[in-house]
Amino acid sequence: MEPETSADAGAEALPAPPRASLVSTRRNAASVVHLKGQWFIAATSRELRAHPLATTLFGTPIVLFRDRDGKPGALVDRCPHRNVPLSLGHVEADGTLRCAYHGWRFDTEGACTFIPSLTERSDARSRRAHALPTLEQQGFVWVYSSPSQGGDETPDTVPHRFAYQGKRGYSTVAQVVEAEGTMYSTIENALDVPHTAFLHRGLFRSASRGITITAKVHRTKDRVVAEYVGEPRPPGLIARILSPSGGIVTHFDRFLLPSIAQVEYSIGTENHLLVDSVMTPIDDFRTRIYAVVSFRSRLPHFLIRPFIKPLALRVFKQDAFILKRQTETIQLFGGEQFASTEIDVLGRHIWRLLKQAERGDVHGSDESGEVKLVV
Ligand code: FES
Ligand SMILES: [Fe+2]
Repeated sequence: MEPETSADAGAEALPAPPRASLVSTRRNAASVVHLKGQWFIAATSRELRAHPLATTLFGTPIVLFRDRDGKPGALVDRCPHRNVPLSLGHVEADGTLRCAYHGWRFDTEGACTFIPSLTERSDARSRRAHALPTLEQQGFVWVYSSPSQGGDETPDTVPHRFAYQGKRGYSTVAQVVEAEGTMYSTIENALDVPHTAFLHRGLFRSASRGITITAKVHRTKDRVVAEYVGEPRPPGLIARILSPSGGIVTHFDRFLLPSIAQVEYSIGTENHLLVDSVMTPIDDFRTRIYAVVSFRSRLPHFLIRPFIKPLALRVFKQDAFILKRQTETIQLFGGEQFASTEIDVLGRHIWRLLKQAERGDVHGSDESGEVKLVV
């Protein structure tokens, strides 16, 4: 049940183990993937203002900036002239990014538009910076993880949309956090049910109430969905705030390629919660999480809103602690090992989809099944 091909993943990603392990470990194996041709969030719209903004994606430095019309662009953060980070530079009044070293200027497509002191044209192909297709929507700046080649080619996919943001009757709260874990571990953690009664005791679920529920799992080429059937309203604080009077619970957990963990709860007919956690791989062992929570409730939203962020951050602090120690342990042992059971419902599916996306395989195979677990 473990990530089945992790032995070939991230071979050089791990540092040499500081000490030998006494138990068998897949040496140098960690569940790391590098995905090309996919959309990831690079920043919130609010973060990207008049100055260039440096970040990384899969460990590659990138710089974001806005052109004269405020449209964002992203370039690999390395000046083609002498390898200086372009993010050290400035955005000019014409919306080009000027390198801090010799003043070459680049537009959001990566074309070199001006070279000080040069009498001939500046826009030779060899002087281009590598541009990443960029799209701003719903308050986030998304970048595509493959540079365009300087032509007009546009990606044939679009970024994920937050379905209930701005929708009548719904409130939305967003939060950005960072975890010291691989993208795979961070996604699995966000969709892993069994740890919630344990690590987050009292917040989601209490210790087991001995109720058997069924998870119906369905994987298609770009997603895996688990529907939990027969779940009573959890006794934890979060469910109590969302629906004080109880009711029938509908619960879906979904992983959507390339990096979205989605948790959806309906309790009764009037209470609905959708949490989208969009993961951005900063590097192999650091993942930024853009969490967007939309909810509808019978209770006035102004009563619920103040609880959402502090509660979510409390939950996240516990997860972040575990992910950090998990990563440290994998690195200490020089590799990972997994012993899974069928109640680790989504882990192997998530890994399979990620590896499939890494290979560029767009077909995949469908799989459906049912798992019983006691909550
Ligand atoms: S290094 Fe950028 S202009 Fe020279
Ligand atoms: Fe958790």
